[in-house]
Amino acid sequence: MLLINNVYSGYADSIVLHGISLQVDKNSIVGIIGRNGVGKTTLLKTILGIVKIKKGEIWFEEKLINSLKPYERAELGIGYVPQGRGIFPQLTVAENLLIMDKNVQSRIEEVFTLFPKLKVLINRKGGSLSGGEQQQLAIARALIKSPKLLILDEPTEGIQPSVVETIVCALYEIKKRGISVLVVEQNLDLLLEIGDYYYFLDSGHVVDEGVINEESYPTMCRLLMV
Ligand SMILES: Nc1ncnc2c1ncn2[C@@H]1O[C@H](COP(=O)(O)OP(=O)(O)OP(=O)(O)O)[C@@H](O)[C@H]1O
Ligand SMILES: [Mg+2]
Repeated sequence: MLLINNVYSGYADSIVLHGISLQVDKNSIVGIIGRNGVGKTTLLKTILGIVKIKKGEIWFEEKLINSLKPYERAELGIGYVPQGRGIFPQLTVAENLLIMDKNVQSRIEEVFTLFPKLKVLINRKGGSLSGGEQQQLAIARALIKSPKLLILDEPTEGIQPSVVETIVCALYEIKKRGISVLVVEQNLDLLLEIGDYYYFLDSGHVVDEGVINEESYPTMCRLLMV
């Protein structure tokens, strides 16, 4: 579904990603792990076209998307939940969802089945929601566009454990609905519960990768702790 081949990118003259290759298959949840500042967000932004690729190839459903604008990538079916959520604090929950697309009443009901709490909060301002509620809203907002691939940047960062479980369940359900997921996540327990494959990033390189299971879990822990 998504294939990244030998990608270099960064900011102005500084290169952050040094030849990254990875793939996300249909019906899978792929996790990107790595310590702070190694280039995880830069990788996601490069896939989305927010950071310009300097070299390499990004393929989505067998189409080379290197030169497409971010909104064109979104139209192809790539959804994005940014680090820090990026919702509109002055708009209500309903307005935050409707701003994505006005003809979405039926899909709003669908996302409420994943996040029932949002239905109760429908008229509350985004900025007045708790961190966990804002994260649910950010994911719901991306789902309104019916993506084929959902990309999330640290969805459980700074969120209390009970809401983490809601997000885990939602991601599992999202996969069951046929949407592939690429998620940057430091919470390895979450990845063990629902992830299929991981890539470990260090200094802009993929230095380890593998299937996520009970056997690979200690390796993933060790990589993050060193
Ligand atoms: N807009 C920018 N302009 C210049 N340099 C940037 C910019 N954004 C990030 N960087 C630099 O690129 C490198 C990688 O940053 P990035 O945000 O991709 O890391 P990350 O792995 O997502 O970190 P974190 O775990 O803290 O979210 C860092 O050295 C960072 O300072
Ligand atoms: Mg980041």
